Amino acid sequence: MNSSDAASQGMRSTGKGQPPRGGDMRDIRNALELARKNGVALGHFNVADLVLLKAVFSSAQELDVPVLVGASEGEREFMGVRQIAALVQSLREEFDFPVFLNADHTHTLKKATEAVKAGFDTVVFDASALPFEQNASVTKEAVEALKTINPAVLVEGEIGNIGTGSEIHELSPDLSKYLTTPAEAKQFVEFTGIDVLAPAVGNMHGMSEKMVEGEKKKRLDIERIAQIKTAAGVPLTLHGGSGTDDGDLRQAIAAGISIVHINTELRVAWRNGLEAGLAAEPHQVVPYKILPSAVESVKQAALARLRLFNHLE
Ligand code: G3H
Ligand code: ZN
Repeated sequence: MNSSDAASQGMRSTGKGQPPRGGDMRDIRNALELARKNGVALGHFNVADLVLLKAVFSSAQELDVPVLVGASEGEREFMGVRQIAALVQSLREEFDFPVFLNADHTHTLKKATEAVKAGFDTVVFDASALPFEQNASVTKEAVEALKTINPAVLVEGEIGNIGTGSEIHELSPDLSKYLTTPAEAKQFVEFTGIDVLAPAVGNMHGMSEKMVEGEKKKRLDIERIAQIKTAAGVPLTLHGGSGTDDGDLRQAIAAGISIVHINTELRVAWRNGLEAGLAAEPHQVVPYKILPSAVESVKQAALARLRLFNHLE
């Protein structure tokens, strides 16, 4: 495949030994810029253990597309902030591959500082539970403080309400009155100096049982995304991507979404794969003989989303 074929099919990474296309792809700014140019989005996948990390990395490697690995406060607490940073850095260096690390949903400056000092590429500073003015004010402080530690770090801010928890919820809350307006987006970006904005556009964290069964899909407000993109003028992230209608995701990316977060879908695949691995060998106690089934299950989930985000279907 020549490079124009690759570009037309989405955003391939540099790949080992290939010349970089559109700047150094190990810089997330370049990866975001190229994604926009090619009308594709970066997949962001949360990890809480080595099974998830191996699966996510292997799916991005197989498709040769850049990928963002996310670790929320809870996921970082479990894996270790410096430990997950070291793992991702080792993958990036050993395979010369554009894999980036995000400190997802970070609620305090202390935790954000810890992540930036450990070498995370991006931070989602999430004060969205606060009233708009207070959210803007603490986010602005965070942007200034974090860029003093590492001027290259990307800081994302969040407005609106998209619920919490990448889990299976019994009820899907009605969050329609908390959608982000283009005017709020513009004001928030200009005031805080954030690099990336996470708006509320019909998205929601977690999945209902019906979504897990594939009987129900999250739907997005595409028109609103396009208006927010124009007003905000910065890359937009779509959180709560699990269970979202495929067509809506394609349209959302075309309308201005540059990063899509997926967590619950991978967690469901992790559990299913683990159960299958245990059931296949009820007397097995060797972890590396049981866990590949979980890696494969998560990898298939990540591959499906990466193909969609990068027009590789
Ligand atoms: O930050 C993580 C996400 O926004 C994931 O949401 O669990 O609905 O995929 P999700
Ligand atoms: Zn999120």
